[in-house]
Amino acid sequence: MANPQVLVRPMQLHDEVAWRRLWAAYLDFYGVTVPPEATERTWASILEPAAPVLGRAAVLESAAVGFAICIVHGGTWSVRPICYLEDLFVDPTARGAGVGRALLDDLVALGHREGWGSLYWHTRADNARARRLYDRYARADDFVRYRLALSSKVVDQGQDPRDRV
Ligand SMILES: CC(C)(COP(=O)(O)OP(=O)(O)OC[C@H]1O[C@@H](n2cnc3c(N)ncnc32)[C@H](O)[C@@H]1OP(=O)(O)O)[C@@H](O)C(=O)NCCC(=O)NCCS
Repeated sequence: MANPQVLVRPMQLHDEVAWRRLWAAYLDFYGVTVPPEATERTWASILEPAAPVLGRAAVLESAAVGFAICIVHGGTWSVRPICYLEDLFVDPTARGAGVGRALLDDLVALGHREGWGSLYWHTRADNARARRLYDRYARADDFVRYRLALSSKVVDQGQDPRDRV
């Protein structure tokens, strides 16, 4: 059930301390580390209005307890923008209270307002908790993801840790 006490709003500069704490816990959840440069760039992109990155904060009793980070991009099959939900996390102490649902509801509403053609995301097949939430919005399709890690001669810090897990 949606929790009317959860407020979802754009991430703001004053969320930095809370976001960094939640982001670190999210990376722990995946058991990964990311280069500090990637974290810095992600935070800067969230605050940069012209960047295609959207950061949404879920606030419960004045504390930021969760976030969603999305990339809005174009596509070849439609003229409408498409939104990729890359990161979703709720503080373990706030789970099961409708915060995740509020973050997804917010993206759906935002997408209707902004004219996105679709909103999509991935999760691990065995992430039962997340899938229970996701199954309320859409059916998982039968596409299989291929991911090829590429090394770069220009920058050697761009590895996505998910390529190793
Ligand atoms: C997935 C996640 C975002 C869900 O956040 P949340 O705030 O707990 O979600 P909600 O409270 O809105 O609950 C979602 C559903 O899961 C159910 N749920 C709550 N606790 C659960 C549990 N321990 N096991 C299974 N389902 C549970 C809730 O009852 C709710 O179902 P409902 O709509 O029938 O009530 C959160 O668990 C999380 O951050 N997990 C770690 C990071 C992660 O997996 N991110 C997604 C990666 S793609």
